Amino acid sequence: MSIALVILAAGKGTRMNSDLPKVLHPIAHAPMLAHAMRAGAALAPARTVIVAGHGAEAVTQAARAVEEDVRVVVQETQQGTAHAAAQARAALEGFEGEVVVLYADTPFISADTLDRMIAARAAHDLVILGFHAADPARYGRLVMEGDSLARIVEYKDATEAERAIAFCNSGLLACDATTLFELIDAVGNDNASGEYYLTDVVEIARARGLSATAIACDEAETLGINSRADLAAAEAVFQARARAALMEDGVTLTAPETVHLAWDTVIGRDTAIEPNVVFGPGVTVESGALIRAFSHLEGCHVSRGAVVGPYARLRPGAELAEDCRIGNFVEIKNAVLDQGAKVNHLSYIGDAEIGARANIGAGTITCNYDGVMKHRTVVGSDAFIGSDTMLVAPVSVGAGAMTATGSVITRDVEPEALALARAPQVNKPGRARKMFEMLKARKARRAREAG
Ligand code: UD1
Ligand code: MG
Repeated sequence: MSIALVILAAGKGTRMNSDLPKVLHPIAHAPMLAHAMRAGAALAPARTVIVAGHGAEAVTQAARAVEEDVRVVVQETQQGTAHAAAQARAALEGFEGEVVVLYADTPFISADTLDRMIAARAAHDLVILGFHAADPARYGRLVMEGDSLARIVEYKDATEAERAIAFCNSGLLACDATTLFELIDAVGNDNASGEYYLTDVVEIARARGLSATAIACDEAETLGINSRADLAAAEAVFQARARAALMEDGVTLTAPETVHLAWDTVIGRDTAIEPNVVFGPGVTVESGALIRAFSHLEGCHVSRGAVVGPYARLRPGAELAEDCRIGNFVEIKNAVLDQGAKVNHLSYIGDAEIGARANIGAGTITCNYDGVMKHRTVVGSDAFIGSDTMLVAPVSVGAGAMTATGSVITRDVEPEALALARAPQVNKPGRARKMFEMLKARKARRAREAG
């Protein structure tokens, strides 16, 4: 069966109190909208239509970043969810099949739930997704008659008896495309909000002799985000699930609640993550690696057997081959480290290639930026970079070469050479004692003068 997704994302999100459209607020480094699109992608839709409104341009951009050929339609004025869904009609011209309506602010629907909605369509013309709410608050209420859904009543329009119903509307629905748009055409706005409610299609369908039902999913899936507090709760839900999924996949998390994952974090089996590690977007870690406490990773790749941290920072473009060692207070950016390379202490390696088994001494810095342009540093395999070496890029140090501690390397070093680039040491006998005497005398004189 062919499926089209319609994702409603036009709302302003007044309660977010933000200049950013609500659906672009991030959860685990991806906009809410991207999560909704990813959830819907589980249905392998033939078409995806986003209904944008507030911040339509930015919303379009965010949607395209997830799926290049997504269709975006603009709802110029927000007149309700039925009015929003109606905007998708033109983009679904010629489409025959199933329409599934999702809300961008309800981004955690599981693939299993979506499958169950589609399955329920076999017996009913219209399927609504509901949930049993611990606190039904202001959600629309589902009025059931046995297995059938009679209608949905919005909180504002509900009687006391209807408000007592705890089976609530998530907003998601599935229906044949042609039927859905026929039903939407019949929706009016004679209600407490003066809006076109998508929920009204249920009553209209029933009046036309069509059947409707509601299936239930876990409340955590239908978590709607309307405020910053909801956003924080959604983040927590996402993190809890992502951590659980990783552990299920064979990753050790010593203190799971302290590890922050991004929506696209990939970690291999038998890798261990110590407490307080933060993953930004675009990180892949292979199997059998160790990410030690308080490290921050983003846009990087860590291969099998590598050890990172504690207190390491891997920035975009950091590529660690197998068995690399990155130690405390080391920052790696846009640099490829070959197998077994070591940068163990207090270093900055940026815009560089570090050869296999090279050892980068404590305090080494690739001086990659001249204030205008970035330049590359290349260190050959088995090279030994002495502590506190400044590698002034563009520069290369050949395989098996060595730089003396404290060197400022401005010229290329040929393989197997030793580069010494520091002032020669001079020792002056007795001079320290004289210096101390002089300084102490000066201090005593100042104390006398000050009275
Ligand atoms: C809606 C449902 C309610 C349900 C609740 C679940 C209706 C009438 N009510 O209420 O039964 O319990 O969701 O969260 O459908 N949107 C547009 N254009 C509009 C209006 C809304 O795109 O003109 C989008 C919003 O961006 C949002 C979604 O539709 O993604 C839901 O809109 P919202 O205003 O939050 O509806 P609720 O009042 O929460
Ligand atoms: Mg809402």
